[in-house]
Amino acid sequence: MNYIEYKKNTLNIENISIVDIASKNSTPFYCYSNNHIVDQYNKFSKSLEKIDHKIFYAVKANSNQSILKILANLGAGMDVVSGGELSRALKAGVKGSDIIYSGVGKTDEEISYAIESKVSCLNVESESELHTINQIASESKTKANISIRVNPDVDAKTHVKITTGKAENKFGIEFNDSARIYKLASSLKNINITGVSIHIGSQITSLEPFKKAFLIIRDLVSQLRNDGHTIDHIDLGGGLGIAYHENETPPSINDYGKLVSSIFEGVGAQIYLEPGRFIIGNSGLLITKVINVKTTPQKSFIIVDAGMNDFIRPTLYGAYHETLPVIDNLGTSSKRYDVVGPVCETGDFFAKNRKMNFVKKGSLIAIKSVGAYGTVQSSNYNSRPIVAEILVNKGQYEIIRHAQKIDDLINLDTVATWLDN
Ligand code: LLP
Repeated sequence: MNYIEYKKNTLNIENISIVDIASKNSTPFYCYSNNHIVDQYNKFSKSLEKIDHKIFYAVKANSNQSILKILANLGAGMDVVSGGELSRALKAGVKGSDIIYSGVGKTDEEISYAIESKVSCLNVESESELHTINQIASESKTKANISIRVNPDVDAKTHVKITTGKAENKFGIEFNDSARIYKLASSLKNINITGVSIHIGSQITSLEPFKKAFLIIRDLVSQLRNDGHTIDHIDLGGGLGIAYHENETPPSINDYGKLVSSIFEGVGAQIYLEPGRFIIGNSGLLITKVINVKTTPQKSFIIVDAGMNDFIRPTLYGAYHETLPVIDNLGTSSKRYDVVGPVCETGDFFAKNRKMNFVKKGSLIAIKSVGAYGTVQSSNYNSRPIVAEILVNKGQYEIIRHAQKIDDLINLDTVATWLDN
């Protein structure tokens, strides 16, 4: 079902007009469709109904307490990569036993916190980290459940900054070394091997790389079992892409589910999945107001009140996001615009050379598909406070994160005593 659509020329989210929301809340703000998230989770789970599986939502995609609650209420576990994300998941009521701790650089404090929280599994990224986990578990007089994150050396054919499964990437243990590391892990007193994991990248738009990596890991599981290790779960990571542009055709969830099921049916292990973007990406809009429309001899710019600090994907990954006028009744313009923010950098843009229907100072614009890796990557650059988040559910909405105020930022600073005269 489409929860974000025009009704009488006005963009609505779950039957509420964005104009109404913006009349009571200052722009910019993020807003999300609760039911889109529910549907995506259910579709993901249904596509895997043939096999024993568990979904661990990748908290990094969007870590708001309400978002985590939606997913926890549906039975999702959580995949976390920092002490902060672990705290958020626990605070949202998720049990440690429903949490996986991933992350390429875990501090000793984070490992202790994960062990104390009785997380279901730590995904180990290196030999030295394995020793550290063993040591910390021994000090706590317990055994840590681990899986080894193996790097299968598969090119996910996605943006270079979000490719993680190639041998030259910093992630995981070299494939050819994995048998040795498992042997080592089984010899460590405070380590309990429970599975194996991979994650080859994000925004993957064809099934081919998944298939390659999945077959590699299935063979590895046989080999590890022959070597005497117990493999109760196989963690396939996240990475399934979504359509940001109407011409994009990422694999359908059903085809992805079929691939996973056909490769792992009967393997005798629970299949773990860590989707982030698929669950939440297309649920969200960033609503921003036009500050000014500026035309130079070369170009026309729509300058809006959101900036790259609020939403960095276009400049960081060259990502395409649709930008729509919230009220679409001013007719079509053939003119092309760059939609840019107020931050003092040329990289501060949301769209380039885009045909936009007429907008003017004060018009509202919606930037689409910002639910995943949107607000979580925002910053205070140019002393711009983090903006509000709003959750919409069947004709009602609530603020699920208040916007920061400038004093919240200034109050974190202190003046060194020798300057305070
Ligand atoms: N599991 C692990 C170990 C991960 O590193 C990630 C994402 C996921 C699961 C979830 O992947 P997803 O299903 O969302 O593709 N900021 C970038 C994306 C970074 C992804 C990092 N890892 C962006 O805006 O595209």
